[in-house]
Amino acid sequence: MYVALRLFCEQHMDKMKVGLIGCGNIGADLCIALQRGLIPAQIAALTDMDDERARLLQRTFNLNASICDLEENAQESDILFECAAPEAVRDIVEVGAAHHRDCLVMSVGGLMENPGLFGLARDANIRIWIPSGALCGLDGIRSAVEAGLHTVILTTRKPPTAIDGTEYLLEKGIDLSSLKEPKVVFQGSAREACKAFPKNVNVAAALSFAGIGPDETKVRVIADPKATVNVHEIFAEGAFGQLTTVTQNLPSPRNPKSSYLASLSAIAELRMIAEVFVAHQRVQRA
Ligand SMILES: NC(=O)c1ccc[n+]([C@@H]2O[C@H](COP(=O)([O-])OP(=O)(O)OC[C@H]3O[C@@H](n4cnc5c(N)ncnc54)[C@H](O)[C@@H]3O)[C@@H](O)[C@H]2O)c1
Repeated sequence: MYVALRLFCEQHMDKMKVGLIGCGNIGADLCIALQRGLIPAQIAALTDMDDERARLLQRTFNLNASICDLEENAQESDILFECAAPEAVRDIVEVGAAHHRDCLVMSVGGLMENPGLFGLARDANIRIWIPSGALCGLDGIRSAVEAGLHTVILTTRKPPTAIDGTEYLLEKGIDLSSLKEPKVVFQGSAREACKAFPKNVNVAAALSFAGIGPDETKVRVIADPKATVNVHEIFAEGAFGQLTTVTQNLPSPRNPKSSYLASLSAIAELRMIAEVFVAHQRVQRA
């Protein structure tokens, strides 16, 4: 039944062409999802600062996609899908704007560092899509902000080993090696949190953009010796009432340093974009 459905979809579906930039863990998770054949999208071009990573993905998933630079990638695709690094985001959105391609951005910290990219995208009439990443509840935040939010707090609880020895903790003289009780190691704005913990920026940045921005969104980071996984809790309050969400993230099966939900959120977002894209194409053809 599943095989029959997949074959039917492969033969009959129009597909959106995806330009993948970043051929690592999230890129591989996306290829696995597309290989199942139930999302109307296909990888048309691959770009990576390390060509061998792109070749590996091309071989592993038998992709009919060219390995090329960013410019060519934009020419060959309908959307740019960034899962590379924050440093790559500026170039990607600029090229997307020049070629009139929407951009899906996973390295959300790169948008926080370059806020002008939102204006550039607006002027070029393209969308920057930000998947919810490793965090639940952004739908509620986006809705609630329509009537005004006065409080958004993200509390991130991590095993001490996940952050011990980071530059910020060393500067503050905080040693977590013999921690017995939970300890608040950071409190501040989302913007400050992104500077203090650059490897963990995406969740705070995505929450900021969904709601009241990087200066008003507050972040607490707790090192908890009893925590075995990363746990993110959102508390928000405004005209709508209050919301609390808790997300307990298991690591990706392919990368212990990345939350599986982040890849899944990118796949779900791409599915939604591709379905709308393909439906729009059909209307134009009719
Ligand atoms: N939004 C979220 O919640 C969320 C969650 C996890 C990861 N991320 C972000 O997504 C990105 C990808 O994550 P991953 O786990 O797949 O990483 P990864 O390290 O497995 O893969 C990244 C790939 O991008 C390539 N790359 C790095 N810099 C590049 C550049 N400037 N130009 C082109 N290619 C470049 C690398 O060679 C590598 O192949 C990271 O920036 C990560 O922080 C976001």
